[in-house]
Amino acid sequence: MKIWAHRGCSQNYPENTLTAFAKAAGLKGLTGIELDIQLTKDGSMVVCHDEKVDRTTDGMGELRGYTLSELKKLRIDAGKGKYERIPTMEEVIDLLEDRLKEGLKLNIELKNSIFPYEGMEEKIIDLVHKRGLHNSVIYSSFHALSVERIKEIDPDAETGILDRNVSDCLYKLKGGCMADALHPFWRGMDLPKEKLAGFPVRAWFTGHLYPEKPTGTRLDLKTLEEKGITDVFLNEPEMYL
Ligand code: G3P
Ligand code: CA
Repeated sequence: MKIWAHRGCSQNYPENTLTAFAKAAGLKGLTGIELDIQLTKDGSMVVCHDEKVDRTTDGMGELRGYTLSELKKLRIDAGKGKYERIPTMEEVIDLLEDRLKEGLKLNIELKNSIFPYEGMEEKIIDLVHKRGLHNSVIYSSFHALSVERIKEIDPDAETGILDRNVSDCLYKLKGGCMADALHPFWRGMDLPKEKLAGFPVRAWFTGHLYPEKPTGTRLDLKTLEEKGITDVFLNEPEMYL
């Protein structure tokens, strides 16, 4: 089973922050790091899960309504009187570049199924290529047309198609998005392993994120593997590694 850090080490540090990514980058045996990107009002690529800044920062409203300099003023509570800022994609690459060149993978999820963020695919592919990281990145989205667009721009790009159920991932694949992997919810394994056509199956989890505390439940990775899951995106990869 390959283990990824979901939004960085997001159980013990604020999700999608430089600290959460730095902690993940320090883990031995980790396959990769997953993160989410959105676009600001002035077209900067930033790493944030929600379309709104309300849940993770001290700001309010839609992220796309902020310029980058406005967004950088918002604070992410990191506990003990410390705070962080929403990172740009470039800042994350600066942080992870050496580890990515050593073999760590980066799954960049384009958060474009609510707002389409026109031109986002070109922007992220351009940045990844400029930094020489095209062999380290897997792009994913719930938005099948966006996954298709990535392959049109860069046929060598590695992609994953997201949905709740693995059958829906396969359905989108048959619709022509040309994804290289299926990214279902872990409870969405509604087909037998034999029907998954040998695709990598990278399963994601919901549940507790910083600063909430774990329930103490530990996933049985062997059972997940028997269902055909090859990789897991975990909030607390450090517990499993
Ligand atoms: O990319 C896997 C997973 O992160 C998708 O769900 O809501 O955590 O972005 P979400
Ligand atoms: Ca995600």
